[in-house]
Amino acid sequence: MKVGVFDSGVGGLSVVKSLLEHRLFDEIIYYGDTARVPYGTKDKNTIIRYSLEALEFFNNFDIDLLITACNTVSAYALDEMREASRYGVVGVIEPGIRAVQNRLSDKNSEILITGTRATIASGRYQTALQDLGYRHLTAMQTGLFVPLVEEGIFEGPLLNEMMAYYFKDIPPPAAVILGCTHFPLIAKEMSGYFDNVPLMIHSGEAIVEYLVEQYGFTTSSKESQLKIFASDNVEGLRKVAKVWLGEDGQRV
Ligand code: DGL
Repeated sequence: MKVGVFDSGVGGLSVVKSLLEHRLFDEIIYYGDTARVPYGTKDKNTIIRYSLEALEFFNNFDIDLLITACNTVSAYALDEMREASRYGVVGVIEPGIRAVQNRLSDKNSEILITGTRATIASGRYQTALQDLGYRHLTAMQTGLFVPLVEEGIFEGPLLNEMMAYYFKDIPPPAAVILGCTHFPLIAKEMSGYFDNVPLMIHSGEAIVEYLVEQYGFTTSSKESQLKIFASDNVEGLRKVAKVWLGEDGQRV
């Protein structure tokens, strides 16, 4: 099976990493809209328009399924993308919610939801968790982490300063939703800030679990082929892939 993975930029590689580790697909076609990133600061209509335009890119490949690794796209454009495409389109928010539900039975647990301004403003995570009965939610837009991670800064004083800026008044959470593709790269530091959060919800791991549970995908013995494309600075994206994907990045 051939899967497309769409993200606003480099961040979706954190989801690709999980897909590669679990070898659910023969081939992964990654497209990052690096010319127009970030999406998380844009309005709903712009996010939908950009997402529909990305489908035109995937028309060049005969994909069987499209994963929108981007939380911002998943929050706003899934219905429109599904209507406009002939293959299935899966976002990362529903899998993230399921991952919480599968792991956190105490509905009084403190949950911190992090994401871009647009993702948090959409209320998608908050509404779904409230509907499941979770009562103690803090939703926080933490968009400054995005350029930091893009700069390759995953630890150190700048990140510590930003975490203090965002989290200083937050009660220690039992779970943190990393509701943005970039955040898994600073998950360890975020967890450490709160003296080790028991549960960090990562879109990549959540979607793998979801694809196995809901679609019956299984791990293959063969490694997946990865092809990377971008609307701008493809070389830059390939370089990031080599750093983020570790040994798997060598195959890009
Ligand atoms: N990929 C985006 C997300 O997961 C983060 C970067 C952006 O703002 O485009 O929401």
